[in-house]
Amino acid sequence: MRLGILISGRGSNFEAIANAISRRKLDAEIAIVISNRAAAGGLEIARERGIPMRVIESRGMERETYDKLVIEELRTHEVDLVCLAGFMRLLSASFVHSFPGRVLNIHPSLLPAFPGLDAQRQALEYGVKITGCTVHVVDEFLDSGPILLQSAVPVLETDTVESLSARILAQEHVIYPKAIQYLVDRRVTLDGRRAVIQEEA
Ligand code: GRF
Repeated sequence: MRLGILISGRGSNFEAIANAISRRKLDAEIAIVISNRAAAGGLEIARERGIPMRVIESRGMERETYDKLVIEELRTHEVDLVCLAGFMRLLSASFVHSFPGRVLNIHPSLLPAFPGLDAQRQALEYGVKITGCTVHVVDEFLDSGPILLQSAVPVLETDTVESLSARILAQEHVIYPKAIQYLVDRRVTLDGRRAVIQEEA
């Protein structure tokens, strides 16, 4: 399976996916990394590893116009599955429909709780005792779409946004490659909102 990874920043989830591939835990290939920001740290990771990458700046661009450029680049690299990894833009419906059921996202909360920005801070301020992270199929709405995998992380009394985010991130790095492998193994069937994961053969 050929992956197209979309980033905006640090790129640690992208790196976790690349690591899972090199450790043969994930049977896929990163065809292209696309960043909408030239300053994204993740680009350096791609450069070091010799992974094809491209900056397509989004600033000041209309959503549909931007998405068209990204779709074109993904098609050029024959991408089968698009993985959003800290990509800070909402995708248009036409993007989502160009890769039906083939766009994934990772979000740092147990969705549907705390969608949107600063999910870890939202969880801390709300006072939940358990939060976590979610890998889901992307639809045209924000942090919506069928859930593939979640991991729960306890909130400690002593937690700050930083400490909680770090523990959640460690789990993100575990579940994202795992969820992608579900798709590689064709174990996922969508039944409306529900992603049904078949037992391992
Ligand atoms: C992660 O917390 C992810 O859940 C959220 O954005 C952050 C991206 O981090 N969508 P990184 O760029 O993968 O390090």
